[in-house]
Amino acid sequence: MTFSLNPEADGWGICSARPEDAAVTVAVTGGTGFIGRAVIRQFIKCGVQVRALFRPRSGSTPPSAPGLTWIPGDLLHIPSLEHLIRDADAVVNCAGAITGVHSGHFVPANVEGVKRLVSVISHSKHRPRLLHVSSLAARMPEISPYAGSKRLGEDLISRQDALEWTIIRPPAVYGPGDRALRPLFECMRRGLLLAPGTGEGRFSLIFVEDLARAIVFWFKGVDLSGRCFELHDGRPGGYSWKDVGETASRILGRPVLRVRIPPGFLRMLAGMNTLAASMTGMSPILTAGKARELCHEDWVCCPGHGGEMGGWMPAVDLEQGLRRVFGL
Ligand SMILES: NC(=O)c1ccc[n+]([C@@H]2O[C@H](COP(=O)([O-])OP(=O)(O)OC[C@H]3O[C@@H](n4cnc5c(N)ncnc54)[C@H](OP(=O)(O)O)[C@@H]3O)[C@@H](O)[C@H]2O)c1
Repeated sequence: MTFSLNPEADGWGICSARPEDAAVTVAVTGGTGFIGRAVIRQFIKCGVQVRALFRPRSGSTPPSAPGLTWIPGDLLHIPSLEHLIRDADAVVNCAGAITGVHSGHFVPANVEGVKRLVSVISHSKHRPRLLHVSSLAARMPEISPYAGSKRLGEDLISRQDALEWTIIRPPAVYGPGDRALRPLFECMRRGLLLAPGTGEGRFSLIFVEDLARAIVFWFKGVDLSGRCFELHDGRPGGYSWKDVGETASRILGRPVLRVRIPPGFLRMLAGMNTLAASMTGMSPILTAGKARELCHEDWVCCPGHGGEMGGWMPAVDLEQGLRRVFGL
């Protein structure tokens, strides 16, 4: 597998596929999701053939592109996983459950699904490399059922001595097309920044295309196996809510007022949201667990825990990223 760093290729300086890469194939799960779509776009842009898993009954629409083949199935369905990884040089697991109330909502995709994917890879003849998209939340498994499930998924993978695995723990990922943070950005556009908890928290961020480029960087062959990376947009120490508000204000050309949402109020909102969701059969985004995650004051990526990934560098800072989100 050969890749070239070619700044002229796509304006981002990531890679271009050379003719001998024509047969290079990556298997991707979660390709209908926010991160998975960006990852597939980036691979296709680099001339890599993509086999992607999609769940026919979930209602998501798989996009089409030359070089992209969709495999119907589920992380819990072993035959579809075997079909997915057949002849793949690497597997990128972007699938996961990000909304839910209790661990029963997260464990099937984030733990059991990972277990089955790992088992299928381990039992395959060619044993493709695995990149698993975890979450920074995994470093605090006790904070929420989501975080706990992400940590269990990581633990399953890191126990695999016979596999070439790499884990990425992204912090909050943002970009156009993101459903989870959309309400926050909509409020910001209207001049209101909702800062949860004490409002003093700090957090790292990463723009979705940067994360996708990091994954393609991993794929291009530098040996990063057996390691876990906390990737961010290059800002050491992360951001405060004040930083975000000031940046948004500069871009939008209007004041953005920071409004603190105290933990008790956030918990109450989470309770109401969970109740409303249970009555409508929807999966609530704001739950008690999510409220605890939002109120936690340190979601800053730890440089000592991975830092830049073997020379990968982010390209989009907060100002550029917010401009893209606001369509400016
Ligand atoms: N977004 C963030 O800020 C962020 C931050 C850190 C980590 N992450 C991690 O990144 C991953 C992707 O997140 P996202 O924001 O892209 O979420 P998303 O938009 O909800 O996408 C989730 C993807 O996983 C698929 N999926 C869920 N359960 C599955 C199953 N049982 N079998 C096969 N596919 C399944 C979904 O398929 P359907 O379309 O069929 O539902 C969808 O394609 C997750 O593991 C999440 O923990 C996200």
